[in-house]
Amino acid sequence: MTTYRSVNPARLDDVVAEVPLTDAAGFVAACRAARAAQSRWAAVPAPVRGQVIGNLGALVRANLETLAQLVTREIGKPIMEARGEVQEIIDTCDFFLGEGRRLYGQTVPSEMPDKQLFTFRVPVGVAAIITAGNFPVAVPSWYLVPALLCGNAVVWKPAEYASASAAALGALVRRAGVPEGVFQVVDADGAATYAGLSDALDAGLVDKVGFTGSSAVGARIGELTGRHLQTPCLELGGKNPMVVTPDADLSLAVEGALFGGFGTAGQRCTSLGTAIVHESVYESFVDSLGKALSDAVIGDPTREDVLYGPMLADRFASRYEEYLSWIGDHHRVLGPVGRITPDNPRAGFAGDPATGLFYHPVLVAGVRADDRLFQEETFGPIVGVMPYRELDEAIELANAPGYGLSSSIYTNDPRSAFTFRAGVSAGMVSVNNSTSGAEAHLPFGGNGKSGNGSRQSGVWVLDQFTRWQSMNWDYSGRLQKAQMDTQSITPDLSFRL
Ligand code: UN1
Repeated sequence: MTTYRSVNPARLDDVVAEVPLTDAAGFVAACRAARAAQSRWAAVPAPVRGQVIGNLGALVRANLETLAQLVTREIGKPIMEARGEVQEIIDTCDFFLGEGRRLYGQTVPSEMPDKQLFTFRVPVGVAAIITAGNFPVAVPSWYLVPALLCGNAVVWKPAEYASASAAALGALVRRAGVPEGVFQVVDADGAATYAGLSDALDAGLVDKVGFTGSSAVGARIGELTGRHLQTPCLELGGKNPMVVTPDADLSLAVEGALFGGFGTAGQRCTSLGTAIVHESVYESFVDSLGKALSDAVIGDPTREDVLYGPMLADRFASRYEEYLSWIGDHHRVLGPVGRITPDNPRAGFAGDPATGLFYHPVLVAGVRADDRLFQEETFGPIVGVMPYRELDEAIELANAPGYGLSSSIYTNDPRSAFTFRAGVSAGMVSVNNSTSGAEAHLPFGGNGKSGNGSRQSGVWVLDQFTRWQSMNWDYSGRLQKAQMDTQSITPDLSFRL
């Protein structure tokens, strides 16, 4: 058994947790235990399961500050954002507490007398949930909370670099009253998880897979589950566009680009990728955003005034450095690029950059449609800017990379807003708001390389964690054949006024 060291990315000498990682067999064993426990949990009345979700919300509320501080310590998310992240769990629990008393099915009229039709929502069974660590507790809660509410058992594999935060949320879930076996946290690396998941699917121990992560791994999960005739819930990458029209409030757009592009150090699936700005306001947009970036406070994530802190973990820093190599000679880059060091300093840095994985914010003007920087997700504090002339061209550029998660338009023209809404391929559209920061009760999800059309949150996620069962009940005492034994009423269709 190997051990993973989860390290504070703002203070690399601070080891947050040492976590033993299990192998494929350990993953399968968790799924087997979940399978054994699931039917008892499904037999608990939904309003009582809702109460357990309510307990979880109350426990998270009571532990908000401690959990937020742990998230900041473990992944370097600024404390204000970490508090928002924990609030998102509470909001999710608030929503699903009530769903326990709804979880509606329907009564449907039959085409025959003395017969009634019904629909029921049935739990799927065992859900295997695999999540990223940039939202180490909120995004997992989007899966866990509705899955448990609906009567499923859950095996959750969090990101290794966020395992202390995951363990804390796991402890709260158990204290809320979720029985042993119904909910399990499994620490494993990617290879063991994939192998374990494959074996568990072969053994018929998993009925639903939820995955948040890269498009490449999402495609592999899609292939694997497809062989078992399952549709996973996939929440993948994004190259989220922001269009700025000539009549937009430019300072609002700059503020949106600053938060959307650089908040969380650009490490959200909803982070801004490319700003597509009308040529008439392009130069002033680039100048203002460049100025906002040089004024921003970057550094120690425990401070309430920082725009962003370090990269999530080592591997995100090295991958980000690779994205920086995509900057070409035809680009105009504002400010220094790369890791913040004594030789490559940042004025006004909050704290000591040498203690962690801190990077300069990078604004790249003059991005072109054939650039890798334009076409691919660049998880990190980098935003491209390009000009456009006509709105149709802007929409085409917004869709060109082939993702489709979030998008945004800054405009004061309703026609532009609705034209963009209809033309953009993204699952989520913001008007005069940044690409990131979705509320927790609207459908969340993407199209194209961002997902397979599944949606999380609100009532929409119920379709991920339940299946419809229909029932018909004939109490006529005879066999009434559908389509054949129906009453027929004869109209006079030759009638004309
Ligand atoms: C993610 O980065 O995986 O809308 C999710 C947002 C957040 C969730 C981001 N509420 O930006």
